[in-house]
Amino acid sequence: MAHTDTQEIRELAAMPGEPTHRGFESLRPIGTIESKIFSHIDPRPIVPALGAEISGIDLSRAGPAAREELKQALADRKVLVFPDQDLSPHQYADFLKIFGTPVKEDIAVDENHPPEVGAIHTRPNEQQQINYWHMDHSFRELPTRVLSLYAKLLPPAGGDTLFASLSAAYDALSDEMKERIEGLHCDHRMTPTQNTKRRYTKEQAEAMANAPPIVHPLVARDPGNGRPYLFVNVPIYCRGISELPNAEGDALLRKLYRHVQRPEFHFRLIWRPNTVVVWENNHTLHYPVSDYFPHERKLWRGVIEATEADRPTAAGPRGRI
Ligand SMILES: [Fe+2]
Repeated sequence: MAHTDTQEIRELAAMPGEPTHRGFESLRPIGTIESKIFSHIDPRPIVPALGAEISGIDLSRAGPAAREELKQALADRKVLVFPDQDLSPHQYADFLKIFGTPVKEDIAVDENHPPEVGAIHTRPNEQQQINYWHMDHSFRELPTRVLSLYAKLLPPAGGDTLFASLSAAYDALSDEMKERIEGLHCDHRMTPTQNTKRRYTKEQAEAMANAPPIVHPLVARDPGNGRPYLFVNVPIYCRGISELPNAEGDALLRKLYRHVQRPEFHFRLIWRPNTVVVWENNHTLHYPVSDYFPHERKLWRGVIEATEADRPTAAGPRGRI
């Protein structure tokens, strides 16, 4: 049998024109979780790149010390998963306040909920159309900082959500690529999606789509943990590189956007009833899987807007601060 070397296998497995990679060795250690500084919660890393599952806590009873540690765990791990929570809408709203000030929801608000608790509701025979890696609201000067979902009604199978670490993706870039993208900026602009018509009037959506782009650094520094992250988003929002001609910028952005999608940087959350998830939207990408038509799915949702302290700022040379 002919010998096929490992590099050849990688090239066969890659998309045409896509670089191959021998694996990632630069993922950083788990930080405070490894240091075991937590005494009121017990976060278990989900994958090295991001995520922690926190069992054994009743979120309706989390005291000040536990709430402080939850904030730290989120800054560290970017996505926190809490199985088996039994929260009323008001208790869920109170949980959201750990991470900032929840905003009044504007998507499918249930009239029995406090205004901060909305819902992502896919009705029977309705197809969920958002099924791509993205960050919410990168076209705003201050992209939404934290998002949370709480599973209330799930299909028999499917409807999972994937999360990817933009810091881990940056760390794994080659030195050449880090040098190439240093100091660059991206043009972010809103494009209407399935949720736009629920969220904005037609006039508002058109005004946003026609507004000048919001410019963010391509490599930014995470104020929560000081790490650089690759600030890319789905091409419908992240439209080009400010300093490069369109074709060159688009090609580079697509390469980086595909790079973030490597499994080494993500995990897949398989929802169970009453699982609560909270994540830093502005330092991660998420992918809602649309594979459960014609079934119904309903998740409560909370949104924490960013403050000025969260404004994306450029990282220094090679991602240094
Ligand atoms: Fe989203």
